[in-house]
Amino acid sequence: MEKEKSAGFSSRIGFILAAAGSAVGLGNLWRFPYLAAKYGGGIFLLVYIILAITFGFTLMITEIAIGRKTGKSCIEAFGVFNKKCSFIGYIAALVPIIIFPYYCVIGGWVTKFVTLFATGNGRQAAADSYFGGFISKAGEPLIFLAIFIAITAVIIMMGVQNGIEKVSKVLMPVLAIMTVGIAVYTLTLPGALDGFVYYVKPNFELFSIKTVVAAMGQLFYSMSLAMGIMITYGSYMNKKDDLERSVRHIEIFDTAIAFMAGVMIIPAVFAFSNGDTSKLQQGPTLMFVTLPKVFDSMAGGQIVGAVFFILVFFAALTSAVSLMETILSVMQDKLHINRIPGCLIILGLAFLIAIPSSLGFGIWSGVILLGRDFLDFFDFISNNILMPIVGFLTCIFVGYIVKPKAIEDEVESSGKFKSATMYRVMVKYVAPAFLLIILISSIVGYV
Ligand code: PHE
Repeated sequence: MEKEKSAGFSSRIGFILAAAGSAVGLGNLWRFPYLAAKYGGGIFLLVYIILAITFGFTLMITEIAIGRKTGKSCIEAFGVFNKKCSFIGYIAALVPIIIFPYYCVIGGWVTKFVTLFATGNGRQAAADSYFGGFISKAGEPLIFLAIFIAITAVIIMMGVQNGIEKVSKVLMPVLAIMTVGIAVYTLTLPGALDGFVYYVKPNFELFSIKTVVAAMGQLFYSMSLAMGIMITYGSYMNKKDDLERSVRHIEIFDTAIAFMAGVMIIPAVFAFSNGDTSKLQQGPTLMFVTLPKVFDSMAGGQIVGAVFFILVFFAALTSAVSLMETILSVMQDKLHINRIPGCLIILGLAFLIAIPSSLGFGIWSGVILLGRDFLDFFDFISNNILMPIVGFLTCIFVGYIVKPKAIEDEVESSGKFKSATMYRVMVKYVAPAFLLIILISSIVGYV
């Protein structure tokens, strides 16, 4: 086992693209644009960027450093520093276990839309009832779920270097090119420039403390923090690679794609709806209901739609890969199981656990947990409750138990830690306070 673990990422760029592959996901492409539209356009962007370089940076460098220093998955890493704190790793390990199955359900929907557009049938998706009709079926979404999990599993079986790293090195640059390509195209549509202005111009009427809380929550989710992923990927990172620079590059990649997703989506939807912004703010249906209509109405829309859903698929796939790898690394640490059998076990179990989330939109829609369907329920428990708790505990752990110096030393072992002073203040005082705010506001349903 040790031998396999030491076969981590082969290069710094491989590590960055794999971590960026985890970070860039449905959150960037679909959630970020509508939050920006809802919470003040340019002012939301500004708040987000400031938080990314301070708060996001702090949490990400902490997790990657913990992983690299210990060479362990989250379930053991905390215990290496302090036995009494290993419980943090157990809570962290729960998060990907909860998220992975339902993330794959959504991955399955994206796979369905890829096949639809790639086979020239994208127009069907422009009908009002298409998406609702599809997800409420019993069989078909489960088949696409199975396909999506199986593709994820194959990549994991190929290993860290030959699977995750190779795939990320191809898919992430392609994803970036496709995003820029569509963004440039949508900006040329009639009426699109007004939409672009709506996106980037600060709208102080929509600004409130909610803007800050929403940006914090989004950032946290978007950078795949507090769920053991960055610890696992950090444990595969080369000891000699500059940690601070790598984190900066991952953040830039993630934020740039989120920003470009807005450029891709907001002007197009804005032009389509003649400046009515309510469509932008409606959330989940934006990607699967409104966008197919927008594609249907534009010249060359079927091709743009196909490219769009393929890039969403790549984003979802590399995120799912990071979730599955994290679960596998936890199993390897605890059960000393090999990669292939471990992967098969996760594949089977995840499929079974995902079934209720999928059927919750159809035959099991009567089952309501805390006022939510299954998928929403799992999403709420992981994102709104467990992740802020893990993030908060991680900051307290580093700030007051092992002390920031331990992390700083790890960063310094491969280069100068330029933001060390900011890091210390953030990890001890500011980040835990932010995380408490996120936790409280998401429990009371503030944003
Ligand atoms: N960071 C991903 C995104 O922005 C979300 C994600 C969540 C990825 C959970 C992996 C695991 O969509």
